[in-house]
Amino acid sequence: MRLDRYISNASDYSRARIKHLVRQGLVLINGTVADSPARAVAEGDQISVAGAAIHTPRPRYLMLHKPPGVVSATKDSEHPTALDLLDEPRPEQLQIAGRLDLDTTGLLLITDDGQWNHRITSPRSHCRKTYRVEVAEALPDALVTKFHDGLWLEGEKRRCLPADLEITGTHSALLTISEGKYHQVKRMFAAVGNHVTALHRLQVGQIALDPDLAPGEYRSLTQQEIDSVTFHE
Ligand code: URA
Repeated sequence: MRLDRYISNASDYSRARIKHLVRQGLVLINGTVADSPARAVAEGDQISVAGAAIHTPRPRYLMLHKPPGVVSATKDSEHPTALDLLDEPRPEQLQIAGRLDLDTTGLLLITDDGQWNHRITSPRSHCRKTYRVEVAEALPDALVTKFHDGLWLEGEKRRCLPADLEITGTHSALLTISEGKYHQVKRMFAAVGNHVTALHRLQVGQIALDPDLAPGEYRSLTQQEIDSVTFHE
């Protein structure tokens, strides 16, 4: 990786500032003054700027309990974004691994590891996601089979993959799906003449929303949670 990119990823220095510091001879690679911001650096190289060591930042893996009214995006002109709820350096490097609608609450995963994100969100990974759903009309038992057989959603060329519906009350259910079409859960219930009135994501793959997190709170994932995300094709 180029020296200037390495330092800007690992610190708050801009590329322009790094160029300037290199020209002043204040950037060292393994104790030797760097002669160009374009110089290649390798893993294990010791980099310092103005006497302070620069460490490669560890990738971040976060779970946020998303409250309603917060957009699953990095920028929005109208509403607060999920990133606005975080107190993290270099927020521009963070990505949302699987969005939720504005009114949906629950587990939102956020990372700066693009490959890990891909393993969750790639349609080929069939990552399972569990939602708690409340609906306007009573839920007949026959829906369990319908969801399992694969619903047809309006505007789609293929049936949905089999989904697990567990009816927990006259108007409430747990639904596990292994794909992530646009507004999928709301469209699935619309396809059977119902209407979702509340939607809350409980789990993504093996990662469950921590019950200790109040809406708006977040924490880092444990190593076990991070490692649980593997690619299933
Ligand atoms: N399905 C939806 O319809 N909305 C969400 O936010 C998530 C899944």
